[in-house]
Amino acid sequence: MKTPSHVIVRPARNVRGSVALPGDKSISHRYAMLAGIAEGPTRIENYSTGADCASTLGCMRSLGVTWERKDAGNIIEVQGRGLSLSAPTTPLDCGNSGSTMRMLSGIVAGQKFTSEMTGDASLSRRPMERVIQPLSAMGAHIASQAGKPPLRITGGALKAIDYKMPVASAQVKSCLLFAGLFAEGETRVEEPLRTRDHGEVALRAFGARLDRAGNAVHIGGGQRLRGIDARVPGDLSSAAFFLCAAALFPGSQLALPSLLMNPTRARLLDVLMQMGLRIAVTQLEEAHGEMVGTLQVVGGGLKGTTLAGADSAALIDEIPVLAAIAPYTEQGIEVRDARELRVKESDRIAAVATNLRLMGAEVEEREDGLKIPGGQSLHGAELDSFDDHRIAMAFAVAALRAEGETLIRGAESAAISYPAFFETLEEVVKR
Ligand code: S3P
Repeated sequence: MKTPSHVIVRPARNVRGSVALPGDKSISHRYAMLAGIAEGPTRIENYSTGADCASTLGCMRSLGVTWERKDAGNIIEVQGRGLSLSAPTTPLDCGNSGSTMRMLSGIVAGQKFTSEMTGDASLSRRPMERVIQPLSAMGAHIASQAGKPPLRITGGALKAIDYKMPVASAQVKSCLLFAGLFAEGETRVEEPLRTRDHGEVALRAFGARLDRAGNAVHIGGGQRLRGIDARVPGDLSSAAFFLCAAALFPGSQLALPSLLMNPTRARLLDVLMQMGLRIAVTQLEEAHGEMVGTLQVVGGGLKGTTLAGADSAALIDEIPVLAAIAPYTEQGIEVRDARELRVKESDRIAAVATNLRLMGAEVEEREDGLKIPGGQSLHGAELDSFDDHRIAMAFAVAALRAEGETLIRGAESAAISYPAFFETLEEVVKR
C-alpha cells in the first residue's frame, strides 16, 4: 500500500507484536553494486524495499547489468559482468540516495567511459567533494557543480592511494575501496573514527582480500569478485523506530526476528538498554560475515543520555528518532559532534528542533547537535517531514506519546527506506 502524503498518528497505550524488517539498506546497496561487477550470478534475498536501493538497481541496469526481481520484489537475481561495465546512454539517476551516488562513483571511476550522475533536489544539495577529491587523486576526471551533483565522471586507469579521510563516512570508505579494486597497487583508506564496515564485509563475501590495521583498510587492485547467494539481514536503522516506540511505554513487548547485529551498527541497542529498554538477543548467527539475531524487547523506564564523539558517528541515522523521544525521557538527551546531520537528506538538526517545538517542546539547537530537556509533555501538531524519510518516521514515533493527534506532511518520504512503515506501525501500536 502506498503511504498517503499526509498521515495522522494518534497516541498509543503501548507497542506489542512482531515486526520482520525489510533488508538492511546499507548492505542491499553494496550487494547490488558488487553483484554487478562480480563474475557469475548473485541471488539476494530480502533486498531492501526502499526507493534508495531501487535507485542503485536502476543505475546498475543503466551500466549494462541485467537483473530480475522475484517473489514479490524481495529477491533480486543479478547476472554479474565482471569488472567492466558498459557506458550508460542516459544519466545515472541516483534519486534521493547519497549512498548510490557516493559508492557507485568509486565503480564508475574505474570504467573506461564517462558517466553522469544526477539526483533529486535534496541529493543535489549534498556534498560530494569528499569523493571527488580522493577519486581525482586516483586519476578519475570529475566535474561537479562546485562540489555538488550532478557529477560527470570520466574513469580510466586508476592508481592506488593512501588516503586519510577528513570526515568519518562509511559511504566514502566504501567508494574508495570499490575504486581500489580497479587501481594499480594497494589502496589504503584510514578513517578518523570507526564507521559501519559493510563495504569491507561485503567485499570479502564476494571473494576479495582486504586487511585492516587499526583504523585503516587496505585493498589490492585487480582482484576479481565472484557472485554469492545471500540473504540481507533486517534493517537495524529501520528497527530503531520500533525500538524507540517500544521504549516509550512500560507495557511494550516486541519481537524483531532476523535483524542485523553488526557491531558497527548495534550501538543503538546499548544506548536503549542504558536508557531502560530491556533487550534480549537470541538465535545469533553469521551470514556472509554479517551478524544476525532475533530481538525480544520489553519497555521499562526511559532515562536520558548524552551522545558525543564516536557514539554520534555510530548512531548517525538513529539520532533523529532518539532526539524525537528525548522530551519523554527522565533527564533529556544531549547530542554533540553530530554536524554531519546538517548535510543528510535534510538538515536533520533543524528539522528535529522545528518539529519538537511545534509539539510544544523546549529544545536548544546547536551547530553540532541538540540539547533536549527531559520530563516534558508534548501535544499533537502539524509537522513536516522535510522530505526526509527518517524525519517522517521519527515524528510518527514521537506522536505516540503526545496528547492529541499529530499530522505529518510529506509522510510518503518514508518509502525512501521503508515503504510499509506506517502500515506496520499501525499493526503493532495498541490504543
Ligand atoms: C551509510 C553511511 C552513513 C549513513 C547512511 C548510509 C552507508 O553515512 O548516514 O544512511 O551505507 O554507508 P556516512 O557516509 O556519512 O557514514
